[in-house]
Amino acid sequence: MKKLIALVLFALSPLVAQASGGSECGELPHCLHAPVNSQDTASLQTGAKLFLSYCAGCHSAKYIRYERMAKDLQIDPKLVEEYMLFAGDKIGDQITSRTPVNDQAKWFGAPPPDLSLETRLRSPNWVYSYLLSFYPDETRPYGVNNKVFKDVAMPHVMADLEADLKPEEYKQAVGDLVNFMSYMGDPVKNERENLGVWVLIFLFILLIPVWFLNKEYWKDIK
Ligand code: HEC
Repeated sequence: MKKLIALVLFALSPLVAQASGGSECGELPHCLHAPVNSQDTASLQTGAKLFLSYCAGCHSAKYIRYERMAKDLQIDPKLVEEYMLFAGDKIGDQITSRTPVNDQAKWFGAPPPDLSLETRLRSPNWVYSYLLSFYPDETRPYGVNNKVFKDVAMPHVMADLEADLKPEEYKQAVGDLVNFMSYMGDPVKNERENLGVWVLIFLFILLIPVWFLNKEYWKDIK
């Protein structure tokens, strides 16, 4: 019996670790909690739009194809083709930046990394906190610095959006963007979790005949 309990606890440990570790953002002094919800399709769609208009000019997301994104996020592929693709791209292509990374490294002083897996590398909270932590600093080339990533080579690319929106709306938009980036880091999350529920239900139902079968086998011996 003890062995069984230990086994169940061991099987559940990744879930517990995920639930408690999801809110971390490393050593940050002011860690903000990203509103990540992989089931919120409207938020993911807004995030995708923001990512493609504000980020994909410099950063690639080469582990995601437009087509896959359209399917997962329930965006009409025609709309993706019309409004979201870079000129010359096809819907089956990966999201790659138009600007060569080597040139960007020369212009900005550091190459913009691929962002497909960024939220897994840093955590969604880190990325959310980073995007909300730009502040004016005249000593820096773009007049901005960042509290989370000191002396970052990236300009505050959403400054116009921040100026146009109310603070709460801007935070919401950045939250949607980070939600989308989390989806990119783990596109099969929903599928895996939905399937997982069915697997558990199946195992539970299977337990019933197995339980009686076990009794039947042992009844003459015990
Ligand atoms: C004008 C080009 C440009 C645009 C547009 C841009 N970035 Fe960046 N970004 C950079 C550069 C350059 C770096 C590398 C900074 C460094 O290493 O100092 C960077 C770094 C980052 C990092 C840190 C990566 C790491 O872990 O080291 C994140 C996260 C990031 N960008 C997110 C975004 C998001 C989200 C957007 C869209 C809202 C965006 N960037 C738009 C140029 C850009």
